Amino acid sequence: MTRNREVEQHQPAHHAIIAGSGSFTPKKILTNDDLAKMVDTSDEWITTRTGIKTRHITSENETTAYLASEAAKAALANAKLNHKDIDLIIVATITPEMVFPSTACFVQVALGATNAFAFDIAAACSGFIYGISIAQQYIESGRYNNAIVIGAETLTKITNFKDRTSCILFGDGAGAVVLQRSDDKNRGVLYSSLYSDGTYWKSLNCQAYGSRHPSSKKLDDPNKVYMEIKGREVYQFAVRRVVEIVNECLKKCKLTLDDVSMIISHQMNARIIESVAKRLELPEGKMFVNINEYGNTSSASIPIAFNECLKHGKVKKGDLVIFAAFGAGLTWGATVIRL
Ligand SMILES: CC(C)(COP(=O)(O)OP(=O)(O)OC[C@H]1O[C@@H](n2cnc3c(N)ncnc32)[C@H](O)[C@@H]1OP(=O)(O)O)[C@@H](O)C(=O)NCCC(=O)NCCS
Repeated sequence: MTRNREVEQHQPAHHAIIAGSGSFTPKKILTNDDLAKMVDTSDEWITTRTGIKTRHITSENETTAYLASEAAKAALANAKLNHKDIDLIIVATITPEMVFPSTACFVQVALGATNAFAFDIAAACSGFIYGISIAQQYIESGRYNNAIVIGAETLTKITNFKDRTSCILFGDGAGAVVLQRSDDKNRGVLYSSLYSDGTYWKSLNCQAYGSRHPSSKKLDDPNKVYMEIKGREVYQFAVRRVVEIVNECLKKCKLTLDDVSMIISHQMNARIIESVAKRLELPEGKMFVNINEYGNTSSASIPIAFNECLKHGKVKKGDLVIFAAFGAGLTWGATVIRL
């Protein structure tokens, strides 16, 4: 779907800067060899087709709100902020704590962030970018000072470990950033762009237990409690859309790839990420990849990767980064940030 979306770049009165970052992943590791004992696959197949070697997986009592809260606490500490300073908590997730209340409300309690309002958004792997864009609007308007945006998933709880085409891909984890109001015009979120195309909903979905397949009725297919993915179908689409949206970001912000320190893409498949880098003609070292350790953690993958980049000095204050994501919906989006 090509859009003729001529959005005027506006100069907001305030800027939303990243003031802190954190992540949390469960200790338990699932290796490719572990998976080869469960389904007909091999370390060699998984490594060459996806780049994944291990994933962090939750134990039974580790839930999405727990992972999200731990990541948020780390981001708050990194921002040197008190929990009372938080005005807004957004959790991007497709594996929420429960149908309702929102996972974000559980996080609010865990943080003691009594001054914050809290809600979840469901935009699958693009959820973190959607969350940044929403928080950006609240902060740029001057209405609020501090927002925590969290991507948190326990995907292995909706993974069919009998389906070799999907179970090799996913892991659990959470990442968070604190977005803060600043009057420094040179820093912060410079541009965000979001897209959706619901006609492709069948490519990636988990159908139980929403209103179409309510818990009050027996499922016609018991596998509907699990994620279903049409990997091959999604692959080309993902490459095309991510390349397109990064180019859109560069054009709208009047930047070139030379200005960009790092592109942090959603970690869906190392081959997809490499194809994107190749098509963009991105110089070596400007595309971050950590899928080998974590697998695909959906909305959590970009903030986990970003936190790792910061921790290892791959990006620093003043650098320009682009976050880009693609996922179920279909949804995709990107944001350009001067750190
Ligand atoms: C899923 C994915 C890794 C599959 O890789 P692929 O190269 O496209 O592989 P294909 O689906 O074409 O399958 C190739 C063969 O490997 C087989 N295969 C699939 N999974 C396998 C596994 N885990 N181990 C061994 N063989 C496997 C298939 O059955 C197929 O066999 P066939 O040729 O006899 O039919 C890849 O398509 C992908 O990453 N897609 C995007 C993932 C996604 O949607 N992520 C979520 C959205 S962000």
